[in-house]
Amino acid sequence: MSEHLETSNGRERSIAAPPPIAILAELTHRCPLACPYCSNPLELTQSRDELTTEEWLSAFRQAAELGVLHLHLSGGEPVARRDLAALTKGASSCGLYTNLITSGIGLTQPRLSELADAGLDHIQLSIQGATPEMADHVGNYKGGYARKLAVAGWIRETGIPLTVNAVYHKQNMDQVSDMIATAVELGARRIEVATVQFHGWAEKNRAALMPTRAQVERTTALVEEARRTLDGILVIDYVPADHHSRYPKACMGGWGRTGLNITPSGYVLPCHAAETIPSLSFDNVRDRPLADIWYHGSAFNAYRGDDWMQEPCSSCARKHIDHGGCRCQAMALAGSADATDPVCIHSPFHQDIAVRAEEDGLSEPPAFVYRGRA
Ligand code: SF4
Ligand code: FES
Repeated sequence: MSEHLETSNGRERSIAAPPPIAILAELTHRCPLACPYCSNPLELTQSRDELTTEEWLSAFRQAAELGVLHLHLSGGEPVARRDLAALTKGASSCGLYTNLITSGIGLTQPRLSELADAGLDHIQLSIQGATPEMADHVGNYKGGYARKLAVAGWIRETGIPLTVNAVYHKQNMDQVSDMIATAVELGARRIEVATVQFHGWAEKNRAALMPTRAQVERTTALVEEARRTLDGILVIDYVPADHHSRYPKACMGGWGRTGLNITPSGYVLPCHAAETIPSLSFDNVRDRPLADIWYHGSAFNAYRGDDWMQEPCSSCARKHIDHGGCRCQAMALAGSADATDPVCIHSPFHQDIAVRAEEDGLSEPPAFVYRGRA
């Protein structure tokens, strides 16, 4: 635990910060899929601007020295990096637990063996639906579903533990039970059933993606039932639809408390969408040591602790449970990252958000606006 006096957003404060537990390394924004809810920024990093192998390895060494335990190798599609095995080996050799977050497209048996030999600890494989028609439609990649099933089989052969990531929304939500069954068939130990988050690109597809309240309630009941019947077989992590909720989620477990993101070009962010907050400026691992950025960087200290909070959060009994919700969602929906997350029933924007979510949920889904490629 460290104490620091910081200046950020024009305020001087004393801040206590533990070291981060996890890093999400966005190795590249290149990706073969074009999901309509892509969480990468609207402006993607070009491959020529990506950190080199040595720059990533330096960041991983610094992360391990800082106290980080988990390294998530993500993207875009991290498999698009030809040096993925070298990066995995380097991270593993400095003691980091390595998790590959992948669509599976581009993974082959030889590359999986290479990654297993490099010390890869865990794989999260995304599925976009429980049928080829749905999955290939959502990812806009013909043959993608069949490819993922093959990749899951190869992962099983390597013995690397598998988690299935299933992002769900209006169009695939009624396949949730089948997606859970698929995860069991694929030999996964865990599935993450997560509702689309309406940031960035997903905002362009609100009416095509927003579930109805009835769908959300049905899914919540199905997940609870599946948790009972699959106890000891499959762990189910569930991220419900927050636009239909009364209280926001504790996004990132609180700002600057548990983890950080590094973008393909080396910018260090408190969360994946932090660049949508125009008042913040971000440091780069090419210019400043990672520990210095974590403890002293102005972006990290902008929303640490609770003295930045305004009413109704500042006097609320839940402020240490949800930390005022998601700063990026407050920016997007209330026009200020200092505001209470509008998902909260105490926010003056809550009613409007809830009504809009109902309307978008009930509307006939228009065609997807697919994500463009880097
Ligand atoms: Fe959370 Fe703020 Fe709402 Fe209280 S008022 S529940 S702290 S978002
Ligand atoms: Fe940025 Fe929630 S996504 S704080």
